[in-house]
This record gives sequence, C-alpha cells and structure tokens, in this order.
Amino acid sequence: MSLLQFENISRIYHTGALESYALRSVSFEIDKGEFVSIAGPSGSGKTTILNITGCLDKATSGNYFLDGEDISEKSSNSLALIRRDKIGFIFQTFNLIPILTAFENVEFPLILNGGISQGERARKVENILDEVGLLELKGRKPSELSGGQQQRVSIARALVKGPELVLADEPTANLDSASGKDILDLMLELNNKLGVTFVFSTHDRMVMDYARRLIMLKDGEVESDKKRG
Ligand SMILES: Nc1ncnc2c1ncn2[C@@H]1O[C@H](COP(=O)(O)OP(=O)(O)O)[C@@H](O)[C@H]1O
Ligand SMILES: [Mg+2]
Repeated sequence: MSLLQFENISRIYHTGALESYALRSVSFEIDKGEFVSIAGPSGSGKTTILNITGCLDKATSGNYFLDGEDISEKSSNSLALIRRDKIGFIFQTFNLIPILTAFENVEFPLILNGGISQGERARKVENILDEVGLLELKGRKPSELSGGQQQRVSIARALVKGPELVLADEPTANLDSASGKDILDLMLELNNKLGVTFVFSTHDRMVMDYARRLIMLKDGEVESDKKRG
C-alpha cells in the first residue's frame, strides 16, 4: 500500500487580484521505505509539496491521502496530531534551539509528547544520537558544532519519535559538498536500516544523484518521475 498519495493537487496563491499556481494538478504515490527526491529549480514548487505532505499547508484543490486517510478536509487540530505522530522534519537551516545541548534538542519532541519517563527518554535519545554518530558530542550546544554536525542532530531529532515519514526541505543547501555528501549517506543508511521513508527536496545535481526515485518539477508541474535500479 502506498504511504502517501497526491491526487490532482493544486495550490493557488492569491496576491491582490493575481492568482498564481504554485502547484498545478500534481499526482504521485510514494510507498513505505522509498528514498525520494523532489527536485527542480527555485520556484518550481518543491517547498509547497513538502509543506502539504507534512500537513503544514493545505491544497487549494485535489486530494491528499496519508496512510490511506484523506487529509484534505481535516481540522488543524487533527493535522497537528498527524504531524506529531507520523512525520519528522529536517530543515535547510537546521532549526536547533541555540540554548539547548544536542542531547536536549533531540529530547525536546519527546518531552512535548509526554507520557514517557526520563530514563526511557534518555535511552531513546542516546540510541538515536549514536545512530547519527554524535553521541560523544551530546553535551555541545549548536554553536559548538559544525553545520554538518548540527544537521546530524536535527536528523536525530526528526527520528527520535520513530516517524514513518521524514521530510527534508533542501537539507544540504547550507553545507559544503563534503558535509552534504555525509548527510545524504547518513540519510540513505537510516533509510536502509530503519526502513523510514525519506522525501527530500533539492535543486542540486549531486543531491539528486543520491535519490532512488527522482520527481522533477517544472513550474508547479511534474516534469518527470523516474526510479533507479
Ligand atoms: N506565501 C506565498 N505567497 C505567494 N506566492 C508564493 C508563496 N509561497 C510560494 N509562492 C510561489 O509559489 C511558487 C512555488 O514556490 P516554492 O514551493 O517555494 O518553490 P521552491 O521551493 O521550488 O523554490 C513560486 O512561484 C513562489 O513564488
Ligand atoms: Mg523551497
């Protein structure tokens, strides 16, 4: 069964009297365990797709199904619960909390969710920090970490709740190419090992080459959708 499905999704922005299509009748399905890149030049609609997929934004028309559930008509409260329970986010600018250590940043979503003891939290946080290779630096604040290390912390934060879907909007855009490659290798490894579905956007050829499936956008439409052997 597909994990998520876009069915003729359009997203129109109204600015004054002007109507512009950020997405125009976009359709695709993504299965559990895929490693997919949404690619295309700036302005082609990548962020809009990820925001709708992550239940941060709603389509103007069309249907979006996640886990077989129609998301299109849900209230903002139920969307918040879906985000909390099913989706991890990784951002271009890492978005870590500056005054918290790496450990505390990763622990934060577990504290927000509640219902889990301090010991269990620590075990989960250390486990996932170990997976991303940052356990030894768990006491450092973001300002004491390189960009690549900060992105590793944010990957751990996205994964600590065990989401089925991780969304990353241009996760390597603020990294040099060597750290960018490290981050993609790590994402691929976690995808293989944990079976988590990754959907990441990029406009960078090198990053596209990592994808097992490449959905290319042009002016808000799917230009091509190719799987790699
Ligand atoms: N809040 C907004 N208001 C008006 N237009 C927007 C808004 N957000 C995005 N757009 C437009 O939608 C199109 C797609 O944007 P976006 O999804 O951010 O593209 P990408 O992430 O590929 O650069 C662009 O033409 C952009 O200008
Ligand atoms: Mg964008």
